[in-house]
Amino acid sequence: MGRKFVVGGNWKMNGNKSQICDIVSFLKTGPLNPETEVIVGVPAIFLDYVRVNLPENIAIAAQNCYKVAKGAFTGEISPDMIKDVGVNWVILGHSERRQIFGETDELIAEKIAHALESGLKVIACIGETLQEREAGKTEEVVFRQTQAIACKIKDWTNVVVAYEPVWAIGTGKTASPQQAQEVHRALRQWFCDHVNASVGESIRIQYGGSVTAANCKELAAQPDIDGFLVGGASLKPEFVNIINAKQ
Ligand code: G3P
Repeated sequence: MGRKFVVGGNWKMNGNKSQICDIVSFLKTGPLNPETEVIVGVPAIFLDYVRVNLPENIAIAAQNCYKVAKGAFTGEISPDMIKDVGVNWVILGHSERRQIFGETDELIAEKIAHALESGLKVIACIGETLQEREAGKTEEVVFRQTQAIACKIKDWTNVVVAYEPVWAIGTGKTASPQQAQEVHRALRQWFCDHVNASVGESIRIQYGGSVTAANCKELAAQPDIDGFLVGGASLKPEFVNIINAKQ
């Protein structure tokens, strides 16, 4: 069975109710390719509001959650809370969580394991910095980040991996389709070798980093790119064109 193309929008810490109405409106107008799975990553405070206003064919993701069900963890939200407002996905391991908030490979893996056990689906982000790429360490880094997750989870069915080279995020410097394909291919092979061939074949790997309406089609044409995780452009009507990149 082929891998269903999956496009996520990561709003990050952007938007208010009025802007959300505009985004909901262009998503409703579409038209969106029904062959593409669409997920929008929403700030926690608006998850409920967006779930109520967005058509059911568009899934919603939280942008973070903690590794336990409840308790004295001021400021955190749990997978159960996310599910309670009708949201089924969470984005974990984003480079901004790793770099700005100091999240380690191990903490991210623990969060992913708990989110999956709680019944959420996970977009698990990995990616190298510019320094790591220039030092020839891209594969070493993304394999290490993936291995940390593999140590804590066995079932990858509800996981989408987002390969987001840090140097391409919010910089306007997209990885070339060849650069992205090379890493996606290597990651798929890693899954074949270190998990199993069936996960290697079926796992969906999104590309993220300065994806726009202008560059999405060429990226989408690469055999191992199964979708996108889009930041800035997911706040604009061009997100519809990115969702439809395969058309
Ligand atoms: O998670 C999406 C992301 O980090 C890419 O952001 O703004 O470069 O599309 P952007």
